[in-house]
Amino acid sequence: MKAVLFDLDGIITDTAGYHFLAWKAMAKKLGIEINNEFNEQLKGISRIESLELILKKGELENKFSMAEKEELATNKNEEYKKMIEQMSSVDILPGIELVLNELKSKNILLGLASASQNGPFILKKLGLIDLFDTIVNPAELSAGKPAPEIFQKAAEQLDLPVKECVGIEDAAAGVESINNASMVSIAVGDRAVLSAADKVVASTNQLTADLIKKVWIDCSETN
Ligand code: BG6
Ligand code: MG
Repeated sequence: MKAVLFDLDGIITDTAGYHFLAWKAMAKKLGIEINNEFNEQLKGISRIESLELILKKGELENKFSMAEKEELATNKNEEYKKMIEQMSSVDILPGIELVLNELKSKNILLGLASASQNGPFILKKLGLIDLFDTIVNPAELSAGKPAPEIFQKAAEQLDLPVKECVGIEDAAAGVESINNASMVSIAVGDRAVLSAADKVVASTNQLTADLIKKVWIDCSETN
């Protein structure tokens, strides 16, 4: 195992609540109600895809031009950015700073494979950006999660074969993306939702360098 590729939202920090509040406010202005259950579908997918799903829920999918949709998505992002402005290292999820440093001390490379265009901004706010060896720019991808491209790109940017990498995710679309990239996948969250992963843990606290390496070894032996 030469690299670990991390998702951001829900793995490094919990921004899902802020995304939800910003989308909920935008949807409300259009007369669309969204709840927590609906929000699950928005995890891991891009900003514009999230907007498309919300518009579809309100049966407004054909009502806006591409330029109008871009504007709605930009407005949501402005609201979201106001919410994340105050983030700091206290917002790092339990155990994450420890595992990043542990992996680093073992010379394992770290990559960010997040659909969020706010990834670098958030990593800076959390004080973690210097630990990362590479960050995929999601704006350059032709297909988001569950397509494998984002995880493949992270491996490529690190000059590593996918077999040397482990991907870590909290969303079903993200686990699918890792699996589609033929990488070892570790998921954090609900086993019922994330059963496609090679290993599921309940909390980010359980992500230790030893556990990640063990999952990689076990999977590499069976393949
Ligand atoms: C993902 C989140 O990490 O990033 C999604 O799970 C979000 O909910 C996506 O839509 C895009 O984020 P951003 O910050 O570019 O709007
Ligand atoms: Mg996530």
